[in-house]
Amino acid sequence: MTNFYEMANRNNNLGTETAFTVLAKANKLASEGKSIINLGIGQPDFQTPEHIVNAGIKALKDGHHGYTQSTGMPKLREAVSYDIFRRHSVKVSPENIIIVPGGKVIIFFSAMLMGEKNKEILYPNPGFPIYESAINYSGAKAIPYELSETEGFSFSADDILKKINQNTSLIIINSPANPTGGVVPKLELEKLAKGLEKFPKVVLMSDEIYDQFCFGENDFTSMLKFPELKDRLIILNGWSKTYAMTGWRLGYGVFPRKLCEIAEKLAVNIHSCVNASAQYAALEALTGPQNCVEEMNQTFKKRANFMFSKLNELNGLNCQKPNGAFYCFPNIKSTNKNSLELQNILLDKIGVATVAGTSFGKFGEGYIRLSCANSHEAIEEAISRMKNIF
Ligand SMILES: Cc1ncc(COP(=O)(O)O)c(C=O)c1O
Repeated sequence: MTNFYEMANRNNNLGTETAFTVLAKANKLASEGKSIINLGIGQPDFQTPEHIVNAGIKALKDGHHGYTQSTGMPKLREAVSYDIFRRHSVKVSPENIIIVPGGKVIIFFSAMLMGEKNKEILYPNPGFPIYESAINYSGAKAIPYELSETEGFSFSADDILKKINQNTSLIIINSPANPTGGVVPKLELEKLAKGLEKFPKVVLMSDEIYDQFCFGENDFTSMLKFPELKDRLIILNGWSKTYAMTGWRLGYGVFPRKLCEIAEKLAVNIHSCVNASAQYAALEALTGPQNCVEEMNQTFKKRANFMFSKLNELNGLNCQKPNGAFYCFPNIKSTNKNSLELQNILLDKIGVATVAGTSFGKFGEGYIRLSCANSHEAIEEAISRMKNIF
C-alpha cells in the first residue's frame, strides 16, 4: 500500500532502548521452547512488596478511579518531599515536585524544556539511551561526554565543564549509572557544582533513579546537597527500581519553580495525571516499612560481586567491580568480536540475553551489559553457559 502522508522530520531523530528489543526477542525464543536466561532488561526480579500491592488494591476498592491533580496527589508530593528530607536532610517544597508515569518522563520533559535548534545538551556516553534520543528529538545537538573504564566509569567534572559553550542549555548526569555501575565520587560532584557557578544559564538534570542501590566505596550524594544549584537543578527519581515497581509506571521530578510550571503544562498535555491507585501504592512505598529496600540492595550487592568475579574468570572478559545500580559492564575487546556480534551470539547460541554496549552510545563499543537483576542460580547458569563461548 502506498502512503501519501509525510511524517514530521523530527521523528527520524528518535532513538530507542535496545533492551526492549532484546527482551522481545528473548521472550519469542522462550515461547518457542528455548531455555533463555534474561540478563538483558534492567528491572528488579523481585515482586513489589506486598504492603505496597495491597495499598494499590485498596485504593481501587475504595473507589479511587478518577483523575488526580496533574502534578500528583498532594499527599504523595508531600511524602516525596519528606522522603528527600529523611534521606538527604534537604528541604524541597512539595510545590516543586511532579509525579509522572515513570522516571523516563523527566528525561523527555528536561529535553523539551531546555532543548531546541542551536542549543547543545551534554549527556553521558555510554549512558541510558533515552538521553540521546530525547535530546535529538528536541532539536538540540547531543554532545556526549565519555565515561571511561580507566576512570572507574565516573565522569570528570573538568571534562564536562570544558565542553560548555554559549549554546549549552542542559547537562545530564547519572550516578549510580546505567549501564556501567559506576558511581561518581562526591569530590567530583562538588567540583561540577562549583564549576557551574561560572555558567549560570546552564541547567543540570541529575538522574538519581539508582540512588538506593549504591554499594561500593563511594556513598551516594544527591545533587540536592549543593544549594548553589538549587535554582537550576532538575532531579529524576522514582519507584521503579527502589521498590521493584517498573510496571506500575511511577516516577517523579524535582524542578525549580519556573521550570515546574511548564513541566506541569507538559503533564496536562501529555498524560493528565498518573494512575490514581498507583499513586496510593507509591504513597505506601514511601511511608511504609523500608527494610525491603535494604534487603534488595544487599541482594544486588551480593549478585553483582558474584557476577563480576565470575565474569573475570572467562577468557577475553575483563570486568570492573560495579559500585552501584545492578549491572556489570565487562570489557570484551580481547574476544575480537564487536558488542552487537557478541550480544547476538550469546542469545542465539546459548540463550543468554545481554545488551550490546553500543546500545548505550558509541563509547559503549567493546563492552556488553549484563543485569544482576536475576537470581543467583540464573546468573551461575548463564556464566556456566558462557564458558562454552569464551
Ligand atoms: C538511568 C535510568 N534512568 C531512568 C530510567 C527510567 O525509569 P522508569 O522505568 O521509572 O521510567 C531507567 C530505566 O531503566 C534508567 O536506567
